[in-house]
Amino acid sequence: MSLSSPRKVIFDTDPGVDDAMALYYALARPGMEMVGITTTFGNVSVEQAATNALYLTAIAKRNVAVTQGVKTPWVKPGEAPPDFIHGADGLGNLPSRQATTNRVDPRSSAQFIVDMARAHPGEITLVAVGPLGNLAAALMLEPALKTLLREVIIMGGTVLEPGNVSPVAEANIWNDPHAADKVFTAGWKLTMVGLDVTHQVIVPVALIQKIADQHRHIATDTLLHAVKFYADFYSGLYPHVAKIYGCFGHDVLAFIYLTNPELFTLQSGRIRVATEGIAQGQTMMNRRDSISYPQAGWGDAPDTHVCMQVQADGALQVFESTLMGPWLSA
Ligand code: BDR
Ligand code: CA
Repeated sequence: MSLSSPRKVIFDTDPGVDDAMALYYALARPGMEMVGITTTFGNVSVEQAATNALYLTAIAKRNVAVTQGVKTPWVKPGEAPPDFIHGADGLGNLPSRQATTNRVDPRSSAQFIVDMARAHPGEITLVAVGPLGNLAAALMLEPALKTLLREVIIMGGTVLEPGNVSPVAEANIWNDPHAADKVFTAGWKLTMVGLDVTHQVIVPVALIQKIADQHRHIATDTLLHAVKFYADFYSGLYPHVAKIYGCFGHDVLAFIYLTNPELFTLQSGRIRVATEGIAQGQTMMNRRDSISYPQAGWGDAPDTHVCMQVQADGALQVFESTLMGPWLSA
């Protein structure tokens, strides 16, 4: 992205290792103005998510507002966080943490999103990479939100690629399918960066090591520790990931789509989320717009732009060159 003016972004997140990668990519990328970080339950509890967002920004010496959002799914019962993927602390079980002094903003994440959208109408891009309860709550607080935000980009869902928590469901959508369906039917400019593309990009641990060697900084050392834990999980699950010793890029791809949309191939269509039953969490896409299906719920749903292919080498190059740049101060 070579933006002529800074792009205002709110990052809705559940850090989470790939969330941390995404955050540092966004902080490192020139032209990105991080208006705030809104946190949600997901990879960890919302309290831990906020703690991690505060920690990651503090050690990178960035002063960014951090809020705490929804603690549980909207309708379905919550589940235990996946400590075997991200660690019990969400950052690969860090052996210790430096003392930091930044504190959480007392507003709810939904209120913060609404406040910022009202203060900067048409300017803010909302990048959401966790379960979507904060977005659903913000829509309920301010029904005009869809016109107040510039666009929404989510990491979540899948169309053709198998799910990662069920045969058909991706984790963020599975974790709050009712909120997700509200987000897909809200009528804002919405782009979905799902498993169809995030499973095409494997971030090697060696790349994060190279970035840590370049900076010799607590922020990149912390990222390296977390990514090793995450890569152990993915390498244990997928032989082709083990060959590289890496992990899927998931959340970072949402920001790479924002900065480098030319790397992605998209398809547009209506998406609804299965909220109950065996397909719970599935993002169902109508890819045959020429047929007028008779069932209720499809005709009036707005289109979502869905990333179907990504140039993986290009995405990794953009990630590397951004994080190798001079974004950290001593
Ligand atoms: C998504 O689920 C979480 O575990 C990751 O942080 C990412 O947002 C991938 O399915
Ligand atoms: Ca996430």
